[in-house]
Amino acid sequence: MGDAEHLTKYANNKNIANCLRDGFPHPYTINDARNWLKNNLTNKNLLLAIEINNEAIGGIGIIYQSDVYRRTAEIGYWLAEEYWNQGIMTEAIKTLVQHTFNNSDIVRIHAGIFESNTASARVLEKVGFKLEAIHEKAVFKRGKLMNEYMYVIFK
Ligand SMILES: CC(C)(COP(=O)(O)OP(=O)(O)OC[C@H]1O[C@@H](n2cnc3c(N)ncnc32)[C@H](O)[C@@H]1OP(=O)(O)O)[C@@H](O)C(=O)NCCC(=O)NCCS
Repeated sequence: MGDAEHLTKYANNKNIANCLRDGFPHPYTINDARNWLKNNLTNKNLLLAIEINNEAIGGIGIIYQSDVYRRTAEIGYWLAEEYWNQGIMTEAIKTLVQHTFNNSDIVRIHAGIFESNTASARVLEKVGFKLEAIHEKAVFKRGKLMNEYMYVIFK
């Protein structure tokens, strides 16, 4: 819960929220941070802060899927804008993917990115993810229909 203030400071950014699902709100308030932490600290997903100089400057998570999809996980991530393009997320995703494959029975990790998010596509490609499918008009965000690019990596 001690990360709530830093989360709010960095997550309150439209350039980040525009790339994510509506569950990541804009504006992003201290209550959003506290609610997110409260709701997510106790579930079985692996949700981590990315920390630099004792500040939470972003988040990365492995979200386990259920039922027949239980050997699949989704990966999600965001980083404070002042730290973009320094290779931080490439390293974080690589580490978390490796950790997940080494420590669980997950065989498939995927990420669905909005068509305009070239930085995220590039990061995933650098880690070894492949473009598996384009889900046409799957996303409706801020009044605009967009394609979703499904990237995947296998154990
Ligand atoms: C996507 C995001 C996590 C990337 O984090 P990062 O630490 O900056 O990523 P890295 O520095 O490891 O790599 C970024 C790569 O994208 C490239 N890139 C950045 N902006 C780009 C753009 N507009 N077009 C093309 N490539 C771009 C960089 O050049 C770099 O590639 P390179 O190493 O080949 O030069 C960060 O931009 C972010 O938090 N975005 C908002 C939230 C988000 O999109 N989350 C993912 C939702 S699927």
